[in-house]
Amino acid sequence: MVSLKHVLLFCGIFAFINAFCMPWNSGGVINVCKETFKKTCIGVSSGKTCKNLIGGPFLSGFTSGPYSCTIYNQTSCTGKKKSVDSDGYTEFPFKPKSIECPCV
Ligand SMILES: *[C@@H]1O[C@H](CO)[C@@H](O)[C@H](O)[C@H]1NC(C)=O
Repeated sequence: MVSLKHVLLFCGIFAFINAFCMPWNSGGVINVCKETFKKTCIGVSSGKTCKNLIGGPFLSGFTSGPYSCTIYNQTSCTGKKKSVDSDGYTEFPFKPKSIECPCV
């Protein structure tokens, strides 16, 4: 007998897993840089979760692999967004405040 409680528990676990990467894969890495032309960068990893960037402003950036991360002009992954791939930007169209990368 599957009770409503079990269904809710299952949905909760699924929502939890969905927000993170499976144990056999990890989050993508975006390198955000203090200077234009991808200089003085720090790597920030995220697996389908929003990360607020600290220590900015960041002016350029690129991902560490063949995938795209999303940058946002506001914290909590809100506002304007732009996709960033491994070529990235020598200069971002805006200064990102938060990022989200896929599981890879
Ligand atoms: C981010 O972009 C949105 C949409 O263009 C804009 O309304 C908002 O003012 C911007 N926020 C910042 C912090 O620049």
